[in-house]
Amino acid sequence: MIVVRTVEELKSQISLWKKEGNSVGFVPTMGYLHEGHISLVERSKKQTDKTVLSLFVNPTQFNDPEDYLKYPVNIDGDLEKCKTASVDLVFLPSKEVMYPKTESTITMTQSLLQTNLCGRTRPGHFEGVMLVVSKFFHLVEPNFAFFGLKDYQQFRIIEEMVSLLNFPLQVIGVETLREPDGLAMSSRNVRLSEKERETAKLIPRMYSLAEKLLKDGEKNLSNFKEILRDFLLTGQDVKIDYLETVDPGNLQEKLALEGKILLAVAVFVGKTRLIDNRIFTLPIS
Ligand code: PAF
Repeated sequence: MIVVRTVEELKSQISLWKKEGNSVGFVPTMGYLHEGHISLVERSKKQTDKTVLSLFVNPTQFNDPEDYLKYPVNIDGDLEKCKTASVDLVFLPSKEVMYPKTESTITMTQSLLQTNLCGRTRPGHFEGVMLVVSKFFHLVEPNFAFFGLKDYQQFRIIEEMVSLLNFPLQVIGVETLREPDGLAMSSRNVRLSEKERETAKLIPRMYSLAEKLLKDGEKNLSNFKEILRDFLLTGQDVKIDYLETVDPGNLQEKLALEGKILLAVAVFVGKTRLIDNRIFTLPIS
C-alpha cells in the first residue's frame, strides 16, 4: 500500500496508473475508519482497478469549532485497516497541503438541495464539503467516487455538483452499514458513553415505529412527525436537531404522506450529534 502526503506524489502515481490503463476508484474519508468505510473500499475494489482513500479531517466543513477539535483521530489504526482492506493508495494531506492559501478562498453553494436538513441547521457545512470534495476530484481524477448513503444529503449534493460542474466521474451511493441493534455506523459513535449508546438505540427503533405507523395507514403528516418526535424525546439527554420528511430527489418538504418519502433525523444524544435516514415508498403493504 502506498501512502502519500503531497499533491505531487499523489498526481504522479495516479498518472502512472492512468497511463497503464487502470481505472481509479476514490473513497474520501475523515478517518477513524469503521466497517462502513471498509464497505465503500470493498465496493470500489469490485468496480475499479485501483482504490484511493483519503484521510483528512476537513476544517472547512465544521460549523462548530469544538466539533472539529473533538473529531476522533487514529491514523495508525486507519492505515492498518486500509492495508487489511487492500487499499492501493492512501492520501494523507495536512491542512497546509489542502488549504495553502489562507488569505484567499472560494465558496461553493448548491441552491436547491442545501435548503433543508443539515444544510439548514449546519450553516456552511456543505460549502466546506463541496470545496474539499471538488479539490479531491481534481487531484485524484477518479473514474468512480464512493459515498455512504447515511449522509444522504451529502450524497445528493455531490451527485448534483458532479453533474452541474461536469466532473468526468460517476458518484456511487453505498448502503448504510448498521450495528446489530440497527444504529448506523459512524465515527462519532465512539464518543457516546455506555448510557448514551443505549439511548441512541431509540433512533433505529423510531424507524421501526415509523414503518409500523405507515403500514397501519397513518395519513396525517404532522401527527406522524409528532409521534416520532415524542418517541425520540423519551430518551434522556436527547435533543432533536431536525426530524423531517422530504422528497428524496429534491430534498424539499413533503406536504402529504404519499409517494417516496425520505425520513431524515439529526439527534443530539448528550453532546454527540447522530444522523440517520430511510426512504419509504408509500403505500407500504
Ligand atoms: O463524509 C465525510 O466523511 C466527509 O464529509 C467527506 C466526504 C470525506 C469530505 O470531507
